[in-house]
Amino acid sequence: MNATIAQLKKRFEQALVAAFGTDLAGTDPILVPASNPKFGDYQANVAMSLAKRLGRAPRAIAEQIIQHLEVSDICEPPTVAGAGFINLALKTQYLETQLKALQSDARLGIAPTQNPQRVIVDYPSPNIAKEMHVGHLRPSVIGDAIARVLEFLGHDVLRLSHIGDWGTPFGMLIAYVKETYPEALASGELALGDLATFYRAAKKRFDDDTTFQEAARLAVVQLQAGDAETLRAWKVVCNLSNRTNRQIFDLMGLSPHIQERGESFYNPHLAGVLEELKRLGLLVEDAGAQCVFLEGFTNKEGKPLPLIVQKSDGGYNYATTDLAAIRYRVAEDKVQRVIYPVGAEQTNHFAQIFQVGRRAGWITDEVEFFYAPLGAILGEDGKKLKSRSGDAVRLVDLLDEAIARARTDLETRLVEEKTRRDRRVYCQCRKSRRH
Ligand code: ARG
Repeated sequence: MNATIAQLKKRFEQALVAAFGTDLAGTDPILVPASNPKFGDYQANVAMSLAKRLGRAPRAIAEQIIQHLEVSDICEPPTVAGAGFINLALKTQYLETQLKALQSDARLGIAPTQNPQRVIVDYPSPNIAKEMHVGHLRPSVIGDAIARVLEFLGHDVLRLSHIGDWGTPFGMLIAYVKETYPEALASGELALGDLATFYRAAKKRFDDDTTFQEAARLAVVQLQAGDAETLRAWKVVCNLSNRTNRQIFDLMGLSPHIQERGESFYNPHLAGVLEELKRLGLLVEDAGAQCVFLEGFTNKEGKPLPLIVQKSDGGYNYATTDLAAIRYRVAEDKVQRVIYPVGAEQTNHFAQIFQVGRRAGWITDEVEFFYAPLGAILGEDGKKLKSRSGDAVRLVDLLDEAIARARTDLETRLVEEKTRRDRRVYCQCRKSRRH
């Protein structure tokens, strides 16, 4: 529609000159979308702005403009309303022609960008020690839409799934693999349908047995220490989980080009992040933990809030990994824009890591880090959607149900349509027999 606006502007400029002389050449007609669709599609507010200069009432000016306005190929006859607004409604015929032209263009009239960038869209980024739940519908669908739009515009898009594939939640699952499926350690694969069955069995074992709980805790320590067998068991869980999630992505029709670059990917870079923060003088020790004190974030007592980047036990956390990701994306991926479509509950997290990234000099004016907060998925009661048992709804259950309902609906409609058609044929037969 930009072309239409440009064209209408030109016609207005001509009318202004024709009506009031060359003094008014180049006057902005102040053409904007109609404030209310019942007034048409566009309105020009120029008459009001000329009242003083021309020493006449805006309505009279508007009338004089439309006498000279030649837009009959685009619009219905313009009208003057209110204080002197000129209302314009596009002709159906004109819209039809425009739409037909768009339809026959494979790019729907959208030109590729003049300024192609390298862009990372960080999605859908689930945590893989657990099944995907209904909340993951948001980053999946919205992230995929954002990536597609940018790619269509001609940007070089990298889809990176920042999966939560590291840390405490894996202890129980690793211990269970070691105990129950030692043969999987060699192949890296578990001959199991999905993560759900495996997860439930591991959870039961965990709840029933305190020695197993100890094994799970030990597994986390061994994982962090880089123990080879533990890493193999961890890989088994990741493979199973990613296989399950890929099926869900396919069900949703997400891009096949999503790359997994999980939290574990950044392990080798975490110490470097700490070192650099230290060198820059940003690191402060607080109760044994390494922190960066944030600007503009305070606790209840009004004291500056620390962002912990290394816990007192030496462990790193979600924020450290994301800082490493920021640094890597700028330095190695040479990205110009990073978009994070992630739940609105993480607003503070992103504000904090972006701030530290900026203060460390990783985020400069040349790169845009953009957090796109996603709202919650609500149930019919207007509250966050939960299953009957009060747990999060499994994403795969939601999708299965959606597909089942759509199928039933379609089948019902097909039957209805057939019945209608049969009845019509029957009536016609009777009619023709009577003649
Ligand atoms: N795994 C996180 C979650 O499920 C989301 C990660 C979003 N991306 C990021 N770079 N922090 O809550």
